[in-house]
Amino acid sequence: MQLNTDFSAVLNQAVFQHLKAAAAELGVETYVVGGFVRDYLLGRKKEVTDIDFVCVGSGIELAKTVQKRLPNAAKISIFKTYGTAMIKFEGMALEFVGARKESYHKESRNPVVEAGTLKDDQNRRDFTVNALAVSLNESDFSTLIDPFNGLEDLKKGVLRTPLDPVVTYSDDPLRMLRAIRFATQLDFEIESNSLEAIVQEKKRMEIITKERIVDELHKIMATQQPSKGFLLLDQVGLLEDILPELTALKGIDEVEGQTHKDNFYHTLEVVDNICENTTNLWLRWAALLHDIGKAPTKKFSKTNGWTFHAHEFVGAKMVYKLFKRLKMPLNEKMKFVQKMVFMSSRPIVLAQDIVTDSAVRRLVFDAGDHVDDLLTLCEADITTKNPKRFARYHQNFKLVREKIVEVEERDRVRNFQPPVSGELIMQTFGLSPCKEIGIIKEKIKEAILEGEIPNEFEAAKLLMEKEGKALGLKKVANEK
Ligand code: CTP
Repeated sequence: MQLNTDFSAVLNQAVFQHLKAAAAELGVETYVVGGFVRDYLLGRKKEVTDIDFVCVGSGIELAKTVQKRLPNAAKISIFKTYGTAMIKFEGMALEFVGARKESYHKESRNPVVEAGTLKDDQNRRDFTVNALAVSLNESDFSTLIDPFNGLEDLKKGVLRTPLDPVVTYSDDPLRMLRAIRFATQLDFEIESNSLEAIVQEKKRMEIITKERIVDELHKIMATQQPSKGFLLLDQVGLLEDILPELTALKGIDEVEGQTHKDNFYHTLEVVDNICENTTNLWLRWAALLHDIGKAPTKKFSKTNGWTFHAHEFVGAKMVYKLFKRLKMPLNEKMKFVQKMVFMSSRPIVLAQDIVTDSAVRRLVFDAGDHVDDLLTLCEADITTKNPKRFARYHQNFKLVREKIVEVEERDRVRNFQPPVSGELIMQTFGLSPCKEIGIIKEKIKEAILEGEIPNEFEAAKLLMEKEGKALGLKKVANEK
């Protein structure tokens, strides 16, 4: 891997010049460190959202001095307890910390901190590739300080801890997940001692909050190929602790020579597939969870072979429990994932057969505004290795998409509003609220979805009158 080792151009940017001047004014050694340095060296094309600075002195004092130099009253936040500060500047978070030595207690991620040298500070960081520092001092401006051969590790694409990995991970167990997340984001390998240390220390994850765990899972899900992260999580034994619903999908059973596919590897394939077509995090989650109901519903019978009866229904219920356990939002995002899981098999039938208008109308009716997302999920779900079938299913989904546009233009069943209101039914037959109103409305909806009548007022009104009569209702005189 070729690295961008020349920092001179990027350090001309205003933010670094302000830092340099503030450091000189205070007379404190100051460095840019962490993700910014790593990503610059790698030439990663991504928006810079935060830059970490470390100084041999008070990070808070440095931040205050920088803030005075910045135009437009940049906002500063000071975290006295942690000895850190943050300034919002041009859409970026500038993070400041004084170089420190840290020692940890068993039951907490929060270390006891004392002032240290730059080397002490680099030592306490998670990976050699995150411990690279670039000087902002006048004497050696733009020099890279790399005490642990982080540059070599970057070139080789290796994640290695500066200290013994058992110490680094035990100090802050979140780093085990960070290792897997970085390996997935950067397509790096985790060095073998580190992997072993994760297996050994994985129990320590107990002290990590669910929110932080989920944050790392989201970051894995946001990559091009999340399967890499999930396979690593599985390899070190963390997946079973965090998402047992997924590991339960592992394995192929055989009874009387009949097998089913391994739904764990299938799921990971579906997730990678969907990442090619959407950046919607929750749709990606839906892909990850779309088959979780298959483990508890798996059955074998002589007549039907392997079945997963009602797995979509069971899976949607499991989504709620999983979100609750992981303290994920129990709001419309969770409902969206549930809906996708619940409906995940619906369009497949359409793709296997000739698509009728009424089947498409029903799909649009049930999926509403999420019908495109549902189709994206179902297309990702095509993992057959038979090229003919693969092409045929994709072609059929293309037809389904075309039919949706056609049917939508004509029948407008997305976010369906009944063309005849309950009120009109009551007025027409002189009714107070009663079950007949619901029956008539349902008949009208069914007739529209089946294509027996168009989604129009006049046709619906005629049907209402007919169905009312069939129910023995009489029209009243003052009907408008
Ligand atoms: N760090 C660490 N251990 C952690 C978190 C962070 O050692 N548990 C150190 C690393 O040196 C890291 C730096 O703090 O590079 C900044 O952390 P963060 O902003 O979380 O990550 P970045 O490396 O900047 O990467 P990204 O922003 O892409 O997540």
